[in-house]
Amino acid sequence: MSTAPTEEIPFHLQGNFAPVDREVEATDLPVQGALPPELCGLYVRQAPNPVTGVSPHWFMGDGMLHGIRIENGRAVWYRNRYVQTPYLENPDAERISDTGEFDRTLSKANTHVLRHHGRILALEEGSFPYVVNGELETQGCTDFDGRLRSAFSAHPKICPKTGEMLSFGYGQLPPYLTYLRVSPEGELVQATEIEVPGPTMMHDFAITESYALFLDLPVVFSLEDAMKGLMPFAWSDDYGARIGVMPRTGGNADVKWFEVEPCYIFHTVNAYEEAGRVVLDACHNTELWRKAGDMTSGDGKLSLRRFQLDLASGSVKEETLDERGMEFPRVADALVGQKHRFAFTLRIDPMNEGEPAFRGALKTDFRTGRSELHEYGEGRASGEAVFVPAAGSDPGSDEGYVMSYVYDENTHESEFVVLDATDMTKDAIARVKLPQRVPNGFHGSWIPDA
Ligand SMILES: [Fe+2]
Repeated sequence: MSTAPTEEIPFHLQGNFAPVDREVEATDLPVQGALPPELCGLYVRQAPNPVTGVSPHWFMGDGMLHGIRIENGRAVWYRNRYVQTPYLENPDAERISDTGEFDRTLSKANTHVLRHHGRILALEEGSFPYVVNGELETQGCTDFDGRLRSAFSAHPKICPKTGEMLSFGYGQLPPYLTYLRVSPEGELVQATEIEVPGPTMMHDFAITESYALFLDLPVVFSLEDAMKGLMPFAWSDDYGARIGVMPRTGGNADVKWFEVEPCYIFHTVNAYEEAGRVVLDACHNTELWRKAGDMTSGDGKLSLRRFQLDLASGSVKEETLDERGMEFPRVADALVGQKHRFAFTLRIDPMNEGEPAFRGALKTDFRTGRSELHEYGEGRASGEAVFVPAAGSDPGSDEGYVMSYVYDENTHESEFVVLDATDMTKDAIARVKLPQRVPNGFHGSWIPDA
């Protein structure tokens, strides 16, 4: 996006994909515009930041949290902190022992950060969660009092109605898929094996009020490639593609599988129930990583897709809602598993040699089919844009704010930017210049005080 990759240095170590080499802190940062006084809390987002300065792939850097604390219109502090995992001391630590045992405390902890039952969890899909506090200090790894025996997804869903956190873990060895249910009190109360034909890369899932949805899609683990030290996931023309729908307290025998057209989905937008159907909206790739060991090959075409799964007949209706590429989808936290009208994504041009080209933040109105794009300016690109509802707003509305870190390749600097979500075409309502740039990263959360 900023600097054309050279043959010597892969894209994820150049421009704003490159790591920063310092943990810094700044207090009372100057605000351009006005931060809404009702916003009191922490915005925190992950970015992979290899501690050695290099990593084999963008997905494999060590997790660094970039947090900004907002209070009564003030930007109280910004700081960036590594999640303190064993990799920081021993970057070459091996997750799999000679006897085939996984050490799930070994995590890059680099993918998502969210709060459940008062605990802030730094997540990466192959490992146990790491707990951090509101100051971004690592408190340690959690296996939910010994009950977690599998990996834990970086994309659990917190049900706004019940407070449960629903998740899953996938593995390269059986069990390939484990469904995980965490009570509102933070206890892991269910860990159930779900049978799937093979070890696929399952990055995200979805919930509705009654169901959990599993994405069993044809990007399959290859032990052979892993042994060769290659990226061990690749597209399979043979595996097929299916979406599983299971009652949230159910088990393997309760899963209803729906065959879909082969595709890959990194991220679901949301799912909900309507008239006997489960509706799933997702950021859809027609294919991914066709060449074994080469994550830059065959990324296919990206679009916004809707799946309607008819629970009685077992039929599936698939339709493309928007042909444009978009990723990093978010809906209001209060609407997870409920029917959404609005979603917020990043416009992404087709992958170029594996490098996502981030454009503006896009609001999609699923009722009208219209969308609004916020372009942050020439040479400026946003990371994941998180929607934060305005105080007292209707939960289904777009009254609220869109917040993200924005990098300016002209100045090599980053800002924290807040938009008015009701009109994304307007200028930002607040911009906070940060003491150093925030590298392109993955997911984050607004963690309100109240
Ligand atoms: Fe993700």
